[in-house]
Amino acid sequence: MTAVDATLSPNRQSGRRRRSVVRVMQTWISLLCLLPALACGQDVIARGAEAFGKSCATGYCHGPQGGSGSTAPRLAARGFTEEYISQTVRRGIPGTRMPAFEAVIPRAELIAVIAYVESLNGITPSMPPARDTEKKLPQEAADGRELFFDSVRGFNRCATCHEVDHRGTPVAAPILKIPADVAALRQIATPEIETASADGESFPALVISKGKNQMKLYDLTAPPPVLRTFPSGSVTLKQGGNWRHSGVIAAYSDQELGAILAYLRAVTGP
Ligand code: HEC
Repeated sequence: MTAVDATLSPNRQSGRRRRSVVRVMQTWISLLCLLPALACGQDVIARGAEAFGKSCATGYCHGPQGGSGSTAPRLAARGFTEEYISQTVRRGIPGTRMPAFEAVIPRAELIAVIAYVESLNGITPSMPPARDTEKKLPQEAADGRELFFDSVRGFNRCATCHEVDHRGTPVAAPILKIPADVAALRQIATPEIETASADGESFPALVISKGKNQMKLYDLTAPPPVLRTFPSGSVTLKQGGNWRHSGVIAAYSDQELGAILAYLRAVTGP
C-alpha cells in the first residue's frame, strides 16, 4: 500500500478498491470478447437458450428449441435476418400477441435471446477472411472463388453449405465429384435429403448422426440450414421430398456457375 492510500478513510479505500475491481473486470470482459468469436458466441447462445425457455417457450407461445408452439409460429430455420430478429424481439409485432421484450427482460438476457434465435436461423459470426496462403489461381477460377464465397449473395452462396479449401460451412459432405458442366451442376441429385417430421412439422432434412438418445440433422427449410437436435424416436424420416439443389443455386447465372466449376477443379482436382 502506498503512503497516499494510508491517508484515505476506510470508506474511500474500499471505493477505490471497488473501482479497480470494476476496471479489472472491464478489461477481462473485453479480453474475453477478443477470443475467437465462436467461443464468446457459444456462451451467449447457451444463456439465450435458457432465457428463451423461460420467456418465449412458455407452453402457450413458441415451442421449445424454436419449434412451433400452441399460439406462436416456429422460429427455427425460417431464414430470418439479424435485423428482423433484433427488431422483432425488441419491439414486438404490433397488432399480434408478440410483445416488445426490450422493456421487459434485462438487457443482457435480451441480447442473449436475440443471439439464440439467430443461431436457430443459422446466423453465426461472419465468415473468416481468405487466408494469406491462398493459391494464385487463373482468372476464371479466381472469379469462381469470389462467387462461391460471395457475401453479397447472402445465404444463397455455395459456401453457406459447402466447405472448400478450409472455408465455408460443411453442411454437405465434401464435394468429391465435380459436375462435368453447368447443366450437370444444375441437375445434381440429392439422395441424402429426406423429409423429417417432428412435433407436427415436416421439413427437408440432412441427417448428420443417429445416436441412441439423440438425432442431429440439418433443417433445410430455408438457407442457411440449421443444425437441430431431437430425442431419438421423436422424428420420422421419409425418403425424398420437395427440396431441390437447383433451387438453392438458382441465383447464379450459367456463366457464374462455369467460373465456380473452374474454381472447384483448380482447388480440389488432382
Ligand atoms: C442451402 C445449401 C446448399 C447450397 C447453397 C449449395 N449446396 Fe451444393 N449441396 C448441398 C447438399 C445438402 C448436397 C448433398 C445432397 C445429397 O448428397 O443428397 C449438395 C451437393 C452438391 C454437389 C454434389 C457433391 C458430390 O460430391 O456429389 C455439388 C457439386 C454441389 N453441391 C455444388 C454446389 C455449388 C457449386 C453451389 C453454389 C453455386 C452449391 N452447391 C450450393 C447443399 C447446398
